[in-house]
Amino acid sequence: MERWSPDSWRKKPVAQMPDYADRAALSGVERTLGGFPPLVFAGEARKLKQALARVSAGEAFLLQGGDCAESFAEHSADNIRDFFRVFLQMAVVMTFAAASPVVKVGRVAGQFAKPRSAPMEEIGGTELPSYRGDIVNDIEFTAAARAPDPRRQLEAYRQSAATLNLIRAFATGGYANLENAHRWMLGFVKDSPQSSAYRELADRITETLGFMRAIGLDPEAHPELRQTDFYTSHEALLLGYEEAMTRVDSTTGDHYATSGHLIWIGDRTRQPDHAHVEYTRGIKNPIGLKCGTSLAPDGLLKLIDILNPENEPGRLTLICRFGSDKAADYLPGLIRGVRREGRNVVWSCDPMHGNTVKAGAYKTRPFERIMSEIRTFFAVHQGEGTYAGGIHLEMTGKNVTECTGGARAISEGELKDRYHTYCDPRLNAEQAIEVAFLVAELLKAERLARGTPEVHAAE
Ligand code: PEP
Ligand code: CO
Repeated sequence: MERWSPDSWRKKPVAQMPDYADRAALSGVERTLGGFPPLVFAGEARKLKQALARVSAGEAFLLQGGDCAESFAEHSADNIRDFFRVFLQMAVVMTFAAASPVVKVGRVAGQFAKPRSAPMEEIGGTELPSYRGDIVNDIEFTAAARAPDPRRQLEAYRQSAATLNLIRAFATGGYANLENAHRWMLGFVKDSPQSSAYRELADRITETLGFMRAIGLDPEAHPELRQTDFYTSHEALLLGYEEAMTRVDSTTGDHYATSGHLIWIGDRTRQPDHAHVEYTRGIKNPIGLKCGTSLAPDGLLKLIDILNPENEPGRLTLICRFGSDKAADYLPGLIRGVRREGRNVVWSCDPMHGNTVKAGAYKTRPFERIMSEIRTFFAVHQGEGTYAGGIHLEMTGKNVTECTGGARAISEGELKDRYHTYCDPRLNAEQAIEVAFLVAELLKAERLARGTPEVHAAE
């Protein structure tokens, strides 16, 4: 393989890249970003890789989620807090109900660039460039707004830094203390159908903490009870930005993407000889790869050879997104190929991107299909004897109406009430917690199945 450098992707064909009119301005912005401090540090990325290695060994579960696209307009402390709060609630449901450690990775603090199915969008006879995320252009449908503007990358950096700063404070400054589990309940979730199940769980946590304190283990002495590891992730789509944020780690001499802890390659940009795979292969962060129906087992193995040649556990997370009716057909082939070749991967389920449907003017996702793809994912892994290691969700802490169904049965007619997403429809806080309870149940069932004498006898 040819020599890798942070800019070696520039010699490869590249998909989904914006067309910047002012190349000089673009280079200027990239130079400026190159001098800015890293957003995350190599040691943190290594720690996440170790945590994911535990997931690949079946000893922990990955929860990854957040906005489809972060936006400049919705950047506020309230939004970040509500997201973080619902994420903690989900994690505690899985950790406590399923007794499984949860690796927490937000689609946050850098999730700004979007791949699009068409480069142009047409409304009422006018054709303009598609919206590609706030880091590239503005969603408003005017020629000026849709023109890619490199200065937006500086704003995306600024917002990512501010978001990460608040999240770090929440994760380590006492907010994430398990003793606050009752307080994480969001106002509008309080009277939701899941609230009593959650309250019951929080009661059990309080009781357990009381017991632990009584025998001398209290949160003041045990940081793991009052703080949590929370990591960031985004799709590494805008390669000029990623290159500018790439740094050499002084302790190892390796290159790391410092725009986020984990970065992933999207389903539309995973061609093995193209630019996105080229950039990603050379950085040492944990990485994700979206796997859709167009990825055959051979193609996947070829990508694994390029992206994880040393078969390092925790390096590669395969994020499967087939659709509820297709997962049972496509997933087993990929699992068998990977298992046959003895590759270490984390298997994660994105039940969002294969289940998008049109409802009038809105893109939506029926909640039952999301739940059904998750169930199928676990069932297939159980059938194959492999470990269903994680879920990848588009979700928000807000009470939006973007996905239909769920315990409150949001109808297609109600989508217009609070449809705020900048790209794909997200689970609202209640729906996200409902998913967490389903996953907890599946994890528990899996653990019981793993522990049965039949399983051991068959080994
Ligand atoms: C996404 O995760 O928002 C996305 C675009 O996904 P995919 O690459 O799987 O289509
Ligand atoms: Co999306």
